[in-house]
Amino acid sequence: MPVGNITRGTTNPNRLRRVDRWIQTWPGLRSTGDPLVVDLGFGASAVTTVELRERLVRVRPDVELLGLEIDPARVASAREDLLRWGMTDAHPPIRFDLGGFETPLPRGRKATVIRAFNVLRQYDEPHVPAAWESMLAALQPNGVLVDGTCDEIGRVSTWLALTPAVGDRPAGPQSLTLSLKLDGLDVPSIAAERLPKALIHHNVPGDAVNNLMTDLDKWWAVHAPLSTFGATQRWMATVESLKSNGWPVLAGRTRWRLGEITIAWGALGRD
Ligand SMILES: C[S@@+](CC[C@H](N)C(=O)[O-])C[C@H]1O[C@@H](n2cnc3c(N)ncnc32)[C@H](O)[C@@H]1O
Repeated sequence: MPVGNITRGTTNPNRLRRVDRWIQTWPGLRSTGDPLVVDLGFGASAVTTVELRERLVRVRPDVELLGLEIDPARVASAREDLLRWGMTDAHPPIRFDLGGFETPLPRGRKATVIRAFNVLRQYDEPHVPAAWESMLAALQPNGVLVDGTCDEIGRVSTWLALTPAVGDRPAGPQSLTLSLKLDGLDVPSIAAERLPKALIHHNVPGDAVNNLMTDLDKWWAVHAPLSTFGATQRWMATVESLKSNGWPVLAGRTRWRLGEITIAWGALGRD
């Protein structure tokens, strides 16, 4: 039996573009000898799995996509989508199978990336560690599990990057990324509504997650005059201020320009 529960299958074309362009940069995807990528919990349509494949083929032309779903009806319907779209014999291949957090893979293989988007948000927080552990066990040593959440059309998106144990590094979360559409953004703490399940209930005064939201809003307000030069300039200054005030911002300016900020997990007080 697949591990987990059937939950709402809501999805939308293009809603996962922000996380997909982050996954494009994952070093293990580029260097692996076996570019097998899993989309776990793809939902009511094959569309976001097909889009992930299209985006990853640009950086890893032989990438192989496996969509896993706990709902057999959604697996059948995704296979019909492939037929309709003439993709059943696609190379590199894309396939859909029944599976849950145990992440069933072809014999002897492990995944370089597992994207589990808008899946754990529908579970209670105590279920998260076991689900992570199962999925992490299906990863290659340089692989990544991306556990995230977004709004209906992907303007607000957040995700955790988790890696398996390698050498002295224990398995678990490495970072939190927030990715926001900057045009028309009122306050960056809009991301609080879409935090991954492991963090969303910790956005309370005194908690590091709440401090992050408060600091983002504070510096976004301080840099409001930069809006004259565009929302991107205002965001870049906001991230720079967080960094110079002690937040461990992991990625560089190329990523900030996209409306992203990535913070080391250790700063979020959950260890
Ligand atoms: C809200 S949809 C997300 C669809 C797509 N990933 C997206 O973000 O647009 C969540 C899907 O995850 C599936 N799901 C829930 N638990 C699962 C599990 N343990 N293993 C595989 N799929 C699961 C549900 O059946 C549902 O179709």
